[in-house]
Amino acid sequence: MLPFTRPTIDTEEFEAIKEVLQSGWLATGPKVAAFEAALADYIGGDVQLRVFNSGTSALEAVLLAYGIGPGDEVIVPAMSFVASANVIVRCGATPKFVDVDLISRNIDAAAVAAAITPNTKAVIPVHFAGRAVDMDPIYQLAERHNLLVLEDAAQAIGTEYKGRQIGSSGNPVCFSFHPNKNMTTIEGGALAINDPVLLKKIEGVRFHGIERDSQGGMDVPAWGGKMNMPDVGAALGLVQLNKLDGFNRKRRALVERYLQQLPDDDALVLPTDTEGHSWHMFCILLDWEKIGLSRNEVMETLKQQSIAAGIHYPAIHLFSFYRQYGYKPGDFPNAERIGEQTLTLPLFPGMEEKDVDHVSSAIHSLLNGT
Ligand SMILES: Cc1ncc(COP(=O)(O)O)c(C=O)c1O
Repeated sequence: MLPFTRPTIDTEEFEAIKEVLQSGWLATGPKVAAFEAALADYIGGDVQLRVFNSGTSALEAVLLAYGIGPGDEVIVPAMSFVASANVIVRCGATPKFVDVDLISRNIDAAAVAAAITPNTKAVIPVHFAGRAVDMDPIYQLAERHNLLVLEDAAQAIGTEYKGRQIGSSGNPVCFSFHPNKNMTTIEGGALAINDPVLLKKIEGVRFHGIERDSQGGMDVPAWGGKMNMPDVGAALGLVQLNKLDGFNRKRRALVERYLQQLPDDDALVLPTDTEGHSWHMFCILLDWEKIGLSRNEVMETLKQQSIAAGIHYPAIHLFSFYRQYGYKPGDFPNAERIGEQTLTLPLFPGMEEKDVDHVSSAIHSLLNGT
């Protein structure tokens, strides 16, 4: 079965994990310190990197440390993985959804501007599937309205915006290293930031609120949680980070082949390539009515040809929890159309060209009704 994604794990990764397991130090330790330094090097700019036990934790830590709470509104796209919105609720604040562009699946400054109220405190742009949001106009808008911008780059490690790594701007940017991401630490996440005052608070939130002085004394000046990454994950991350650019080049080559092979058809909307895209996922839209099959039927047909497609994602505002905020069908037409018509085709570095050809020919057959 060809899955929609699969982590690339090799002997180097096994060896790195074995070394940690044999060292006797499994929790946060020297490998985490080394991984944070290597990530900072990779991202570039003048930023500090901190790793977490998940991308969700990294996002939560920033919002909590910044003081986002009850009565505050945070703007977030209606099309993302649900974690982008859940972290807002976790802080006691209210998510304010906005629609995305149909092709990039990203928000833009105009959509954000229209959602700003006197209670808006922050905006969370999501770099969907590794495609960079056009950040400059969003930062300009945020500055005018004194908003925190927290970039959800969970899907965008290795993505570049205007020739610079996402995460190098100094504003808080969070990554995920979940196994389906472009590199993995099993579970894990990271924050890139250049703000020493906020970073100190974030470090407290990450680990029990503990602050240590130079004499080894300890104080807990504020509440903190438990969001640290273990050394086993960091050791894996160090190996994967070395391979990341190679992984991403392979992803791009496979995407180019998909774009050559997939047909120009009324019932099909393809993603477009952009400079700096890290191609975390290859998501298409299929018009089920034009094809005359439901999505489940299509997925079943693909499965019979050993192809497992994915769905990324149902629109967040239509989940039963988020409908309680008053959201309903019709609120965000692009997010809803994506939620209904999206299909994620297999894309991962271990794939071969013939796999792309096999998937493309299965899509051709579906469109031709053969
Ligand atoms: C857009 C987005 N935000 C946040 C997350 C959460 O990351 P994690 O699974 O590492 O907690 C994910 C993970 O899939 C994601 O895709």
